[in-house]
Amino acid sequence: MGIVILFGALIIALIIGSIVLIFIRRYRKTGIWMLCTLVSLIILTAVYVYFPRHFKRNYLQKEHEWSGLAFRRYADSLNFYIGAIPAGISLSDPRFSENFNSVTPENALKMGPLLKDFKVGEYDFSQADMLVNQALEKNLRVRGHTLVWGKQADMFKSPDLRYWLENFPEGERSSILQKAIENHIITVLDHFRGRIHVWDVVNEPMSMINKGKLENNVFLKYLGEEYIPGAFQIAHSADPDLKLFLNENLISYTDKTAGAFLKLVKKLKDNNIPIAGVGIQAHIGSRRDTSVADLRNFLEKITSMGLEVEITEMDARLRLFSGADDPYEAQGKYYARILRTCLDIPLCTGLTFWGFSDNRSWEDSMSVFFPRPNEPYLFDRDMNPKPAYYHVYKTLKLEHEARKGSL
Ligand code: XIL
Repeated sequence: MGIVILFGALIIALIIGSIVLIFIRRYRKTGIWMLCTLVSLIILTAVYVYFPRHFKRNYLQKEHEWSGLAFRRYADSLNFYIGAIPAGISLSDPRFSENFNSVTPENALKMGPLLKDFKVGEYDFSQADMLVNQALEKNLRVRGHTLVWGKQADMFKSPDLRYWLENFPEGERSSILQKAIENHIITVLDHFRGRIHVWDVVNEPMSMINKGKLENNVFLKYLGEEYIPGAFQIAHSADPDLKLFLNENLISYTDKTAGAFLKLVKKLKDNNIPIAGVGIQAHIGSRRDTSVADLRNFLEKITSMGLEVEITEMDARLRLFSGADDPYEAQGKYYARILRTCLDIPLCTGLTFWGFSDNRSWEDSMSVFFPRPNEPYLFDRDMNPKPAYYHVYKTLKLEHEARKGSL
């Protein structure tokens, strides 16, 4: 991130410099040349980055070998949660329910979509109920995602709690927000009591920009750091039987933010805050080299605190493997290594993909940040199983056989 900012600043400085030169008669020509060169470079880079590339889909030849495979039964026998979000697929589609035993609603359980017309304190559970009930009919575990998410309020404007709070005098905002969040947690947990047993209580508390710091969201601003343990305590008192998770998106597992996140988790644990587990999102958006060894180390640090861990939002963009002979195969192998890592750690209890087929990916809808092809999931845009599918299948099957054999 630092290098990108530095590079951006350098380009801006050069552009400003060349414009200044244009206004100095003696250097006008140099200035024009500089500006033209810079603009051409920017255009070429943008074309290079954003022009969608296509990779050969060699796997289509294997399709007949893979048809009829299903991996849910292996995950069930391993007591391991293998999940996906139901994006662009119905939960009653056997391709979902025969492969996955866990589902995370992508947006349906977030604060905005649960509110009636985004009005704080007024709820309409009809959409979420439909999805949750359909999941339960298929015997799927539902991950509750998520109760307190600063970015939901800040970035996705649904609702923008900062804006909403401006309706109240400054001095009253903290207690109003505290009451609103208490009411939200209690209402939602009450509503899904007995149907959803695991919740991401707080999502993404760490800042993505300010390394090692908490995200400066509306909750931190008005409630201070206490909003994090506070949310866990409210959730626990609303339903003591729930498994409560802290969910985070890390870009590296060894940097300052990763360290600060571990400290936060340890503090919660040391203070007897009712946290049962940690969710690691694993959106591998920009760094293919988010090393699997680092991830393993990190997961083990969490489980050594006696906490469960799940990989909650896995996706590794195809483009990150563009150097490989067969990027689809390389992507599949990468997923297999991550899954293997989780299976090796006794308290690593699940892996969820943040999508189902490449037809619909949240990264495509943010392609300014994630230039295509993203194609991060197990099924391709035509619903064909990809090498990613096959590698997940094979890893679960082998583990199932190994554990059966060792009994
Ligand atoms: C994303 C959804 O996939 C999008 O549809 C929505 O517009 C924004 O949120 N980390 C999270 C998820 O915890 O909730 C986010 O989901 C992706 C990043």
